[in-house]
Amino acid sequence: MSWKTRILQPDTAVEKMKQKAALRALEEVRDGMKLGLGTGSTARYFVDGLGAQVAEGLAVVCVPTSEATRAQAEGLGIPLASLDALQRLDLTVDGADELDADLRLIKGGGGALLREKIVAAASDKMIVIADDTKLVATLGAFDLPVEVNAFSHGATAAAMDAALATTRNAGPMALRMGDGDSPFLTDGGHYIYDIALGTINDPEALAQALLNVPGVVEHGLFLGYATAAVLAGEDGLQEMGTL
Ligand code: A5P
Repeated sequence: MSWKTRILQPDTAVEKMKQKAALRALEEVRDGMKLGLGTGSTARYFVDGLGAQVAEGLAVVCVPTSEATRAQAEGLGIPLASLDALQRLDLTVDGADELDADLRLIKGGGGALLREKIVAAASDKMIVIADDTKLVATLGAFDLPVEVNAFSHGATAAAMDAALATTRNAGPMALRMGDGDSPFLTDGGHYIYDIALGTINDPEALAQALLNVPGVVEHGLFLGYATAAVLAGEDGLQEMGTL
């Protein structure tokens, strides 16, 4: 049986595009690789396809970037290990909320940015998979997720506001809410603020300004991690960087 008969069968055009990008990235996977598994609706198709290939004998070992991805991978019988045990990974495949022509990313819309960044940083290559609406000329239309320690998070938000005073238009800085009246909790037990920036003219400076604020755990700017991208659109696949 071909592994393709085992995979999800998306029924909308955008979901089909996400799967096409994911399956193109899957072509880069080789027997014996150590992989980082991303999080989100696009990465889900990569994990799904990988599971189908594992069921037919592909040998890989993987580090998931979230509890949701861990559950999906375990359900598909994909061998998992900790990053502590593997140390370095050959390749991570993950989605993005925005990317620019320099393969700079905004991530964290799904709340998994901390583990996603730890795993991306430990990977020799990172392929971003997305539909082509995620490609932007300038990052920032998507509100930047920032993961913060829950302790005094309001004070941390005020300090972020002050640190960004010169770079930020007066958009909202919103504590992300989960179900009901409680804040959304990340896998690490932290909170997330989504910061409306409009346009990010200097991502590197913004990243540094955020990291200088005590209480900030990590931000969703991924700078210098992605080595390639596969974008799916109505006209087919577009590749950026070196796959
Ligand atoms: C998870 O925290 C995010 O970084 C996702 O990888 C990103 O939001 C892309 O998700 P979708 O593929 O669902 O758009």
